[in-house]
Amino acid sequence: MCTEKPAPQREIQITDDGSATLYLPQLDEHYHSVKGAITESRHIYRDCGYLFRASQSPGPVTILEIGLGTGMNAAVTAMAANDLSPVRYIALELYPLSLEEVDSMQLDRFVDPRLLRDLHQCPWDGPRQLTPAFTLEKRRCDFTQCDLPSGIDVVYFDAFAPEKQPEMWSPELFRRIFHAMNPGGVLTTYCAKGCIRRMLSAIGFSVERLPGPPGGKREIIRAIRRINSI
Ligand SMILES: C[S@@+](CC[C@H](N)C(=O)[O-])C[C@H]1O[C@@H](n2cnc3c(N)ncnc32)[C@H](O)[C@@H]1O
Repeated sequence: MCTEKPAPQREIQITDDGSATLYLPQLDEHYHSVKGAITESRHIYRDCGYLFRASQSPGPVTILEIGLGTGMNAAVTAMAANDLSPVRYIALELYPLSLEEVDSMQLDRFVDPRLLRDLHQCPWDGPRQLTPAFTLEKRRCDFTQCDLPSGIDVVYFDAFAPEKQPEMWSPELFRRIFHAMNPGGVLTTYCAKGCIRRMLSAIGFSVERLPGPPGGKREIIRAIRRINSI
């Protein structure tokens, strides 16, 4: 289901590594870790997600991101994408940022400015090749309602925290993700709570706890889709 929702009020805050994030007063929640936004993005999603998968099985990689937000995860992945493991990147977002918000964050100090602009300016609901090894499909939709694409190799699960937005973390939605993924597919998320690990494991993922980003959270989750759901 594609919907237009009014933009929530968002404030820019600088995190400990000098990169900016957004704060949502309405939820009392940040888009990234305040200990380092770009550091988190590179470690959890690019390194433990895309680059890990690419190291396991070279070839095209289809990535699904839950919550495009500032485009930081997409941009760092696009900058790492290579010919051996070209990326089709599908990103869901219900509350897109305006270009003014993106510009005010000055993320161009950390990611290729032209890539970042292209990423936010390209149209919704159609593939757009942004670099030779990176194609983006932005879908403006509600993750809790929309159909998921099939054949996903990597999921960047970057929703707001379970205690802030519990409806995004339901077993039904993770079961749908499981069935949309290829066997051996990889899901990474910053949330290492025991209840989330147990839920993923019960659905059919092999769940590992990995060290978090330097200076940030102690642990993160990487979950590998087993062949069959339990
Ligand atoms: C923690 S932030 C993600 C940050 C983002 N990955 C980035 O690199 O900036 C969560 C994102 O999920 C989006 N979101 C919230 N509810 C959603 C929903 N029901 N469907 C799709 N996206 C949603 C928010 O607007 C926000 O962009």
